[in-house]
Amino acid sequence: MGEEEEEAALRVCRSKSLYRYNGMNLLKETSSFEAEFAEFLGVPYVVAVTSGTAALHTALSALRVGPGCEVIVPAYMWVAVIAAVVNLGAIPVLADIDETFCLDPTDVERKITPRTVGMIAVHMSGAQADIVRLSELAQRRGIFLLEDCAQCVGGAINGRRVGTFGDMAIFSFQMNKNMSSGEAGAVVTSNEVLYRRSVASHDVGYSRSSTDELLMDDHESYGWGRGGRLDELRASILRVQLRRLPGTIARMHHSKYRIRQWIETHPGVSSRRVVDPSGDTGCFLITIFPDAETAHAVNDRLRVLGITSVSAETSNVILEDYGMHIYYNIPALVRKVGTDNRGSPWTLAENQDSNYSYTKGACPQADNLFERSQLLAIPSCLTGSDEDEIIEGFKEAMNSVFPLRYA
Ligand SMILES: Cc1ncc(COP(=O)(O)O)c(C=O)c1O
Repeated sequence: MGEEEEEAALRVCRSKSLYRYNGMNLLKETSSFEAEFAEFLGVPYVVAVTSGTAALHTALSALRVGPGCEVIVPAYMWVAVIAAVVNLGAIPVLADIDETFCLDPTDVERKITPRTVGMIAVHMSGAQADIVRLSELAQRRGIFLLEDCAQCVGGAINGRRVGTFGDMAIFSFQMNKNMSSGEAGAVVTSNEVLYRRSVASHDVGYSRSSTDELLMDDHESYGWGRGGRLDELRASILRVQLRRLPGTIARMHHSKYRIRQWIETHPGVSSRRVVDPSGDTGCFLITIFPDAETAHAVNDRLRVLGITSVSAETSNVILEDYGMHIYYNIPALVRKVGTDNRGSPWTLAENQDSNYSYTKGACPQADNLFERSQLLAIPSCLTGSDEDEIIEGFKEAMNSVFPLRYA
């Protein structure tokens, strides 16, 4: 956050017009942000919303997900992904991850049943899912692909931005993300009907004309709104943050790959597989150790050396301890807690054939990776000497752990 964001926020406050659809001196920051983000991604349609969670609900509503539907979700995600499926009355079906730490296409194929309507591929921890294979799979099996790009804003594969491979995509601009206005999100699509349905769903249930009038007779889209419109204040900040994004990503990418280069020379540790390193946003480094004991020992030592940021729990952690990013750490999922007194969606008649377990063991490849992999946040403000300190920290931690065990 710098002077440009301050000026943007002041500009909107002084206009006294904070609501996107009308005002005394409306600056149209929200629609400008939508147009600029659409151009950045290379898609025709963007709907700005209040959060990534709102974006997930909006997109799944546009895709008409409801009771009787199964939606495949990865074992490594954020709880909001599953919450959106459950809140709509559908059943989440866990699929395993591979060394991309994103959906394993082979396991997705195994999890498809006659009730599967789609999958949510989450580009986790800054880097891409194997989205080309997942997109081919979705098309071949006739199911939708929703990309969750919350943690990979600005990522790409061979120059094509993540968020442009699926039927729809969602983004989050919450505080931890590559660009931020504290809270906000976006829904993205190239499909005009899905766009109109997203406009309707995120607002009051009706799409809008090019001059923002509610369209009461757009029968393909109208329904029930969720009240997730973005305000002018946050949109004005996002416009500045979007201009900063390439620089933010370049700095994180540089720092990450400098550290990764050292790691690759050490036989006791490997790095997560990145589908296209040049399009990795660089905000997290995931390292994989031979076993849980080694992973925890290295992590403990790095923390003692101060290789963390605020908070340590989200900046330098063994994945199994990474809260509700891990399916078995979500109590309401493991215990199938319902959204109402009837226990919906788990107890709905439409879902009676969709009976799955969400306890540890449901995704064995993920379970194995979670206990021996470490996630390290890479801030965009690291100096060369900060990077040196992290590399030295790794060296010291690895050398203190490995000779004893691998002499
Ligand atoms: C993968 C993923 N999806 C969705 C969300 C939800 O976004 P928000 O916090 O903006 O609701 C987040 C982050 O918080 C996330 O990491």
